Amino acid sequence: MARAHNFCAGPCTLPTEVLAELAAELPEFEGSGMSLIEMSHRDPVYDRIHHETMASLRELCSVPDDFSIQLLQGGATLQFAMVPMNLLTDGRPGAYAVTGSWAKKALADASLIGPTSVAWDGAEGGYTAMPTANELDLDDGLRYLHVTSNETIGGIRLPEFYDLPVRQVADMSSDYLTRAIPWDRFDVVYGGAQKNIGPAGLTVVFVRDSILDDIPASVPSYLSYATHAAADSLANTPPVFAVWATGKVLSWIAEQGGIPAMEERAARRSSMVYEAIDSSEGFYRSPVAVADRSHTNVVFRLGSDDLEARFLVEAEAAGLVNLKGHRSVGGIRASIYNALPTDSVQALVDHMTTFAGVNG
Ligand SMILES: Cc1ncc(COP(=O)(O)O)c(C=O)c1O
Repeated sequence: MARAHNFCAGPCTLPTEVLAELAAELPEFEGSGMSLIEMSHRDPVYDRIHHETMASLRELCSVPDDFSIQLLQGGATLQFAMVPMNLLTDGRPGAYAVTGSWAKKALADASLIGPTSVAWDGAEGGYTAMPTANELDLDDGLRYLHVTSNETIGGIRLPEFYDLPVRQVADMSSDYLTRAIPWDRFDVVYGGAQKNIGPAGLTVVFVRDSILDDIPASVPSYLSYATHAAADSLANTPPVFAVWATGKVLSWIAEQGGIPAMEERAARRSSMVYEAIDSSEGFYRSPVAVADRSHTNVVFRLGSDDLEARFLVEAEAAGLVNLKGHRSVGGIRASIYNALPTDSVQALVDHMTTFAGVNG
């Protein structure tokens, strides 16, 4: 099997063991005479897979009993609207830490739905750093503070979750299951599966039970967290393939040592690339604050657009793909999610060293 070193920002690399299992089980599942993705989502066989995926999430992430685990569709993008629809219900505003492109989108949608305020905006610094807790502008009477714990495009990460008097909502799309979640600080945590935990099509949302009673009856059924909490995410047809595949990735994560292992792995593997940047005597440059460097999306620049273009062409020739930075910012971005093999990170470091040697 010829596998590329795939640094895509998502959807991204899945464990080869999981892909092989899916391929083997796809045509016919456990003697049922059909594929899992051909059967009813009410079938007891699917029901077991569905609840196994939920149970794995609860165990791996140490999710307390007073949170529901919701297996939804619509991506993190739909959560930009669902969060304010479900939470901004009593006139209190939601504050947003505007740390990059994704936080901006979350704020833009929330502003269409309810009262919002800006707790911090990193525009002046080009979204290259996260705010410290002291820098946040938090008025009294906020409903929540929304944070994006890892900005996938800018390559910055909250080094520690904030410990604040106000409950938080976190978009963890690009650092899901790479770090522990201090549940007492959050009302809602959400993210798409397609980076660290599975294929596209599944959005995992953790919702504190105590917020469910305050959701207005005017929220349409799919958009209400109360619907999914009551129905165990089986109120309508769930994304059955993604739930199944994610369950397998979660088992793989557990076999690797769970969240502590993923956390250590993300820190170690991103450091390999940051070391290559820092030891290049300026040939490569990281635009982001050192303390806030992402462990999953390493962004860097070379001296000119031309040099960056050649770096990418030669990387691709060496089997290293999807390294182009997001179209809005340019440069290079290496997304190093849970399932990317360490050999791929080493291959990138080797390419960086060789390229700098020839062109430096
Ligand atoms: C931090 C963050 N939030 C939200 C999104 C949007 O996610 P989706 O495509 O699942 O709607 C992304 C996608 O890359 C992201 O990285």
